[in-house]
Order: sequence, then structure tokens, then C-alpha cells
Amino acid sequence: MARLIRRYSDGTRINHWMVALLFLCAGLTGLAIFHPVFWFFTALFGGGTWTKILHPFFGLLMVLGFVFLFFQVWRDNLWQPRDSEWMRRSPRLLRGDEDAMPPIGKYNAGQKGVFWLFAVCLLVLFVTGFVFWQPYFANAFPILLRRIAVLLHAIAAFLLILGVIIHVYAAIWVKGSVRAMTRGWVTPAWARRHHPLWYRQVNGDQ
Ligand code: HEM
Repeated sequence: MARLIRRYSDGTRINHWMVALLFLCAGLTGLAIFHPVFWFFTALFGGGTWTKILHPFFGLLMVLGFVFLFFQVWRDNLWQPRDSEWMRRSPRLLRGDEDAMPPIGKYNAGQKGVFWLFAVCLLVLFVTGFVFWQPYFANAFPILLRRIAVLLHAIAAFLLILGVIIHVYAAIWVKGSVRAMTRGWVTPAWARRHHPLWYRQVNGDQ
């Protein structure tokens, strides 16, 4: 078999899956509190009271986990001029014409967009969450601020869930990506096809 290429260390993968698991817990508990239609999720967390108690802690741990992940990948997610060109041509990718896309580095513009969406949404969730966290912090803030915080919290949660759906769909769509995050390696053919500039970089050609 051809030499495999390392894409993620063990630590990064553990970190990523912890964040994913905490996202699931924070998301399900959050939805359960948000609307009665999702109330049945409380059965997974020991009932309504426990769901309300646990939700902010799941959220806090998710943000903490993401901070570590953020510092491992942010440099590779910085926007480059070629990313704008990639975005312009992205409708062709959606039609299955990957050959029409400009060569990209470790992440494509879509992945970068989702990454920054995650970062902004988690920051908003983190800050607004404290403003109405009962019984610890909420009483320190005026009611109007708390109401605005609740609204922003719900909008950021909605966008984060949308972002994760796109993220998971793309991960499954690009065959070989999930293995990068479960085993840590990719094949040279995968790297050459989907991330040619990164492939050249890891081979020392750039
Ligand atoms: C729950 C299901 C999830 C699946 C199946 C999944 C899958 C993946 C896969 C396969 C990759 C590697 C992509 C590549 O190297 O090209 C990846 C990267 C990444 N994932 Fe996830 N993920 C999930 C949830 C999450 C969540 C909830 C977050 C954060 C809120 C997250 C944040 C990231 C980040 C920051 C990267 C690094 C790539 C980048 O910066 O764009 N993932 N994920």
C-alpha cells in the first residue's frame, strides 16, 4: 500500500470527537428547553430539571473543547485570495465537477467558512449564555439585556446546528474524510485529489 499521510494527531482527534459529543448533548438539552416539541429529549438526561441544570455545563465544556481545537487548526483556516475564487466556482462543485475547482491547501473555502461560523456562533453562545444562566449569573444583568441575550443565543444555536449539518454532510460526501478524523491518516490519492497544495506541502515540494 502507498505511504499514508498524517492529517490529524491522536490528541486533535480525541479533542474533535469530545466537542462533537458535547455538541450533541448541548444541542439536545438546548432544544428540549427551547420548545415543547423537543421536550421528549429530557428523557435522555434524567428529566426536565436535570436537562436544565446540565445544558449550560455541556455548552461550557463544548466551548472549552473548541478553544483547544481552534488553536490547532485556525492558521490553516485563514482566508486566502484563492478561496474567493473557489467560492465563485463552488456551484460547479455542487454539480459534481471537482476538476473545475482551483487547487487548495489543507482546507477548502467551504470548510473555512464553516470553521469561522463555528467560532463566531460558539463565542456568541458562550457570552450570551452567562447573561441568563440561572441561578448563578442572570440576576446580575438587567431584564432587557437578558431578553436580547436569549434571542441572540437562539439565533447562534440555530446557525451552529445548520453549520454542523453542512459539516457532517460534507464529511460524508467527500469519501475518505471521516477516516482522516477517525484514524488520523489519508491516502496520497485523497490528498492529491482534494487538497493538492497541502499534498505538495507535506511532500516538501513547496
Ligand atoms: C457530529 C458529527 C461530526 C462529524 C461526523 C465530523 C467530521 C469531521 C471530519 C471528517 C473532519 C475532517 C475534515 C478534513 O480534514 O477535511 C472534521 C474536521 C473538523 N471538525 Fe468536525 N465533525 C463533527 C462535528 C463537529 C463539531 C460539532 C464541531 C465544532 C463545533 C466540529 C469541528 C471541526 C473542526 C474545527 C475541524 C477541522 C477542520 C476545519 O477547521 O475546517 N466538528 N470533522
